[in-house]
Amino acid sequence: MKKLAPIPSGSLFFAPMEGITDETYRKVIQNNYPEWDYLATDFLRVPSAGRYPNKHLVRHFGKELYELSEIQAKTMFQILTSHRAFTGEMVKQIQDLQFPWLDMNIGCPSPTVCKNQGGSYLLTDLLSLRDLVRSIRQGYTGRFTAKIRIGYSDTKNFDDSIKMLNDEGVELITVHGRTRDDMYKAPARWEFIERAVKLSQVPIIGNGDVWSTSDIDRMIKETGCHGVMVARGALKAPWMAQDYRLGHFHPTKKETTTKIKQFFTDYRSLLEAENISVRGLLKQSKSVSRFMLDGIEGCEMVKRQLMLSQTVPEFYSLVENL
Ligand SMILES: Cc1cc2nc3c(=O)[nH]c(=O)nc-3n(C[C@H](O)[C@H](O)[C@H](O)COP(=O)(O)O)c2cc1C
Repeated sequence: MKKLAPIPSGSLFFAPMEGITDETYRKVIQNNYPEWDYLATDFLRVPSAGRYPNKHLVRHFGKELYELSEIQAKTMFQILTSHRAFTGEMVKQIQDLQFPWLDMNIGCPSPTVCKNQGGSYLLTDLLSLRDLVRSIRQGYTGRFTAKIRIGYSDTKNFDDSIKMLNDEGVELITVHGRTRDDMYKAPARWEFIERAVKLSQVPIIGNGDVWSTSDIDRMIKETGCHGVMVARGALKAPWMAQDYRLGHFHPTKKETTTKIKQFFTDYRSLLEAENISVRGLLKQSKSVSRFMLDGIEGCEMVKRQLMLSQTVPEFYSLVENL
């Protein structure tokens, strides 16, 4: 397995987002905003019986992107698993396919996932989580990282979870500063990111409530984290890393709407090149536009109209007229 270069401090991560960060979306991000240092696939659920064909894993990562070693080096392949799933089998496939970076999702709050004892539910029982982490580490020689929440209903296991992941050979930990019960609404508690930095020997990536370029700076200063991962803020402004690197902290409305139009021109042409159905094109365009107009003066009505639009031309003419 190819050894990856260490992750520099101050790195910016585009977060995994189910239903969003598929191959097409990541291609737009990589082509237009290469200032994101790292990206992630959304999670691939480990099956509870049998195995996926190899081509399913490659498709999840992106068939074209799989051919590019520099993209493999900057993209974590994320899995979601539990004790009931065939983790060893999937890890072997990931190893055999030579994906150099495997990330374990220990934060998913979905009721179905937690009912099956996966995602953030794993934080309730650190001994069993340790067994699972250990078995992945033993079967995989590439970079193994984990993304966690600060707890399930409370934070009593937080310190021990960070220590355990360190002891079991996890090489980087992303801390989303919310418990499972907080879901996405409660304010992210950055003090836990700071706490993880103090407890951990391996790099900590901070995540939660980064909505602007100034928030990136603030998170690094307040928590001492090694890097910052952005999810909904990056969906709102996929160019956030570029603005950050250019020191462009106060974009005007005109600059933002121009970027939104450019983004959708590129996104639409990639989706069309893949022969997506008209229904799929409208659905995906709506999904990725979800946060884009938030906070932009005078755009509240257009945001609603975008969501209600019935056809692709209707959606795209609203974007054009921003
Ligand atoms: C639509 C959506 C899908 C998500 N899918 C995933 C996922 O597949 N894997 C994961 O680890 N986290 C996932 N998350 C969580 C985010 O990566 C991130 O941890 C969370 O949104 C907090 O960051 P934020 O406050 O910057 O949004 C998802 C979040 C959203 C909003």
